[in-house]
Amino acid sequence: MTIGGGFRPASRRSGLLGVHSIGEFVLSVPDVRDAETFYAAFGFEARATDNQLALHTAADGYRWGRVIGGAHKAMHHVSFHCFEEDLPRFKSHLEANGVKVLDPPSGFDSNGLWFYDHDGMLLEIKVGAKTSPNEKISMEPSAPATPIRTAPISSAASRTQPRRLSHIVRFTPDVDRAIAFYSRIVGLRLSDRSADAVAFMHGVHGSDHHLMAFAKSNGPGLHHLSWDVPSIDSVGLGAMQMADKGLSRGWGLGRHVLGSNYFHYVRDPWGSYCEYSCDMDIIPATIDWQGLDHAPEDSFYLWGPNVPEDFGFNHEAARA
Ligand SMILES: [Fe+2]
Repeated sequence: MTIGGGFRPASRRSGLLGVHSIGEFVLSVPDVRDAETFYAAFGFEARATDNQLALHTAADGYRWGRVIGGAHKAMHHVSFHCFEEDLPRFKSHLEANGVKVLDPPSGFDSNGLWFYDHDGMLLEIKVGAKTSPNEKISMEPSAPATPIRTAPISSAASRTQPRRLSHIVRFTPDVDRAIAFYSRIVGLRLSDRSADAVAFMHGVHGSDHHLMAFAKSNGPGLHHLSWDVPSIDSVGLGAMQMADKGLSRGWGLGRHVLGSNYFHYVRDPWGSYCEYSCDMDIIPATIDWQGLDHAPEDSFYLWGPNVPEDFGFNHEAARA
């Protein structure tokens, strides 16, 4: 099945071993209450239990992430989903490539395969639902007030609620190593890159233009979590609902080049970002996509306001 838009059979590319989706992430932060305030304002059902915060999408109840207490903000792990028949193949694949398979971390028992990536971030591959899209779904048009007035009346506009996780962007000191690891071990494929500054990777069984992306920095870290919303209005209204809560730092409205999505980034309490994103390109399982290397001026954004000076600052590396 596919999450975030009703039941659809999962697309699959036969003959290739690769994860098909991001199933869940777990983030650690110094004070989980800050996360509850931020993510609830962003549009999640944020459910607090046992000193954890679970982030569910309102429409389907899917749990995309958990936030736990920790000394500082850091990604605790990312769980990828694979097809059931591929899990034993992944086990052999990891062993054949010299990747040490670990016991699950304390408090996260599961029957998945646990291992570290090239930067020492904990990953899991487990059997799970395909949360990535199979094919492009057109943006939803605005709900017009009347056949002539195409903007909805403000008081009738919906609160923005993410439909699904689109992608995670990580800082890494070595983009080439990231591409090599996530291609060879995790089975993602390069979508596009710009020299050694940034790389975008998709799932071979059909996904957004990027499930994971890597931006060069002086150390590992989280840059942003990106959340799919149905329309440009949802992006703009989401930015406004965050500003109404005093969460106006960020960047947008704009449109990216690689991935084509419209965006607005909201700075989270720890200096990383959550992105409202709509209309991203999809790379379906049927396409043999050839990733290209783009000039820096062709790789970031098509239009939008000036980029905030600290947009690319890696707070995790600065702390290390
Ligand atoms: Fe993004």
